[in-house]
Order: sequence, then structure tokens, then C-alpha cells
Amino acid sequence: MSTIKIHDKEFTPYITDQEIQEKIQLLAQQLKKDYGNKKPLFLSILNGSFLFTADLFKYLDFEAEVCFVKLASYKGVSSTGNVITAIGLDTNLNDRHVIILEDIIDTGKTLHHFLPQLQSQQLASLKIAVLLNKKEALAYPIKVDYDCFEIPNKFVVGYGLDYDGLGRNSKDIYQLKED
Ligand code: XMP
Ligand code: MG
Repeated sequence: MSTIKIHDKEFTPYITDQEIQEKIQLLAQQLKKDYGNKKPLFLSILNGSFLFTADLFKYLDFEAEVCFVKLASYKGVSSTGNVITAIGLDTNLNDRHVIILEDIIDTGKTLHHFLPQLQSQQLASLKIAVLLNKKEALAYPIKVDYDCFEIPNKFVVGYGLDYDGLGRNSKDIYQLKED
């Protein structure tokens, strides 16, 4: 793997496809222990989580459902976000064990603004699973229940994550190169 350029910025190889797949398989095993007989509903937050969700779902060998919602909140390389309302949340969540799937948690602002929208329904349980956890950037009271990787507070792209629209179609994850 070598450095890549997206728009005006250079990115260096950070997490390989193989490492990602291994961690997602471990997550799938853990979820089976915790939800194997609960028929959980995975709520995937678009756009960034589409590859994570697709790969995780293929590794789940127990009954589970998935649905997708979109809450766009992100422009450029810093998490500024005015969180936009969830689009596509038309599934009945009453009495369901719900697991939110996010590509990355940064400040936690996105989920902090989204979670109250679930409160009108009586979920059986709610947990959060993320591929990447930028733990030191967390600024809102969000508890991440499952993560595949803890990463430092540096911008990353690839495997569903974008820099201004580009870079999602990389199997590997890249980190913004320091100047
Ligand atoms: P918050 O701060 O709300 O951010 O937890 C979560 C959302 O911000 C985006 N995000 C990133 N996207 N590389 C990206 O491509 C990053 O390093 C990054 N950090 C945050 C992402 O959309 C996530 O859902
Ligand atoms: Mg996202």
C-alpha cells in the first residue's frame, strides 16, 4: 500500500482490509453471544456505514434484521455538523433489541442528536457499535458498546468513509498525512 491523494490532501495507509475483516468477524462473534436468540435490529447510519454494515451482516449467522437511516452532518475534515433529521426511519422499533451501526464516532454529536428521536418508541434495548472509535475526541455523553478499532483524533478515509465525497471505495483505511 502506498500514499494516496484525494482532492488536495495526501493520505497514508493506516488499517488494512485484512485487519478490518478480522475485527468485524470478532465483532460478529461477540454479537452472536449477546444477541443470538434476540432477533436484533441493526440500524445502520448512512452513508459512511454501508460497507461496515454489509460486511458485518454477512458474518452474522443468527437471525437479525437491518434497516438504514440517513443523517448527514459532516462537511470537510472537521466535525462541524448541524445534524439533519433522520430520513427513512419507518421501522417499528417497539420491543426490539436495536444496535446502531456507525462507521466512526468522533465528537458523538451526531448520535447525541439522533438518539432522542428513538425515545418515542419503547425499545427492548439499545446499543451502539462502531467500526472506528476516536475516543479522545468524544465531547458528548455517548456510550459506545462495541468498537472494532480505537483510533487517535486524526482524519481517516476509506472503507465507506469519505473526504468530501471521495475515498469511500477503498478496501483499506487511510489517515490524513501530517504536513
Ligand atoms: P461525530 O462528531 O458526530 O461525527 O461523532 C460522526 C460523523 O462524522 C464523520 N467523521 C468522519 N468522516 N473521516 C471521515 O470520513 C473521519 O475521520 C471522520 N470523523 C468523523 C462521520 O460521518 C461520522 O458519522
Ligand atoms: Mg457517518
